[in-house]
Amino acid sequence: MNTREHLAHQLAEAVAEALRSDLAHQERALLVVSGGSTPVPFFQALANKALPWARVDVTLADERWVAESASDSNARLVREHLLTGEAAVATFVPLTTGDETPEQGTAVVGERLASLAWPASMVILGMGGDGHTASLFPDSQELPLALSTEEPVVAVRTPSQPQARITLSADRLHQAKRHVLHINGEDKRSKLAAALGGDDVQALPVRAFLACPLAIYWAP
Ligand code: 6PG
Repeated sequence: MNTREHLAHQLAEAVAEALRSDLAHQERALLVVSGGSTPVPFFQALANKALPWARVDVTLADERWVAESASDSNARLVREHLLTGEAAVATFVPLTTGDETPEQGTAVVGERLASLAWPASMVILGMGGDGHTASLFPDSQELPLALSTEEPVVAVRTPSQPQARITLSADRLHQAKRHVLHINGEDKRSKLAAALGGDDVQALPVRAFLACPLAIYWAP
């Protein structure tokens, strides 16, 4: 097992522990995961953990406004890599609707999320090379709104990204009981070091989560 796989297994164990602990005293637990390429080995490790998965809801920190069949759909990633094995009986709650735009879909997604067991047991965040996390992008016009609103989700249009997106708001992400940043590679370590060295959240939105507290799972 290489270092990244080892890290993914350690994270899966920590998440499983958190879910078991919460499920010991609550009927349902909510896990919020991120998309992208980093989480795949983590999803695969977590899917094999023995848990009362039937009492677990899984949703996303953010999503591209694409059909679930699209290759860059985070929902597809979660269904293929996390909702298998032991975890196949978990309930997945997607962030997209049949609407044409995320602006049209936010109200329905917000209602869908309202029925879940907030605060989430854990939020697993990723980070892009520009310091974005979830779909809180430094170049998006909706960033100030996503950082300040008490609404659960925000539609996001970002010049650097090909698709419109929907993201949980910073407020909703903050409300989780536990926060993890899962990143790999030297570039992301440098970006995280830069984030830790300053305060401007608009410039590096991951800064919004540095004081959650945030557990950092990093491998070279
Ligand atoms: C997504 C998430 C994003 C992701 C980072 C890191 O892509 O769905 O919006 O926040 O976590 O971009 O992505 P990688 O893991 O692919 O580097």
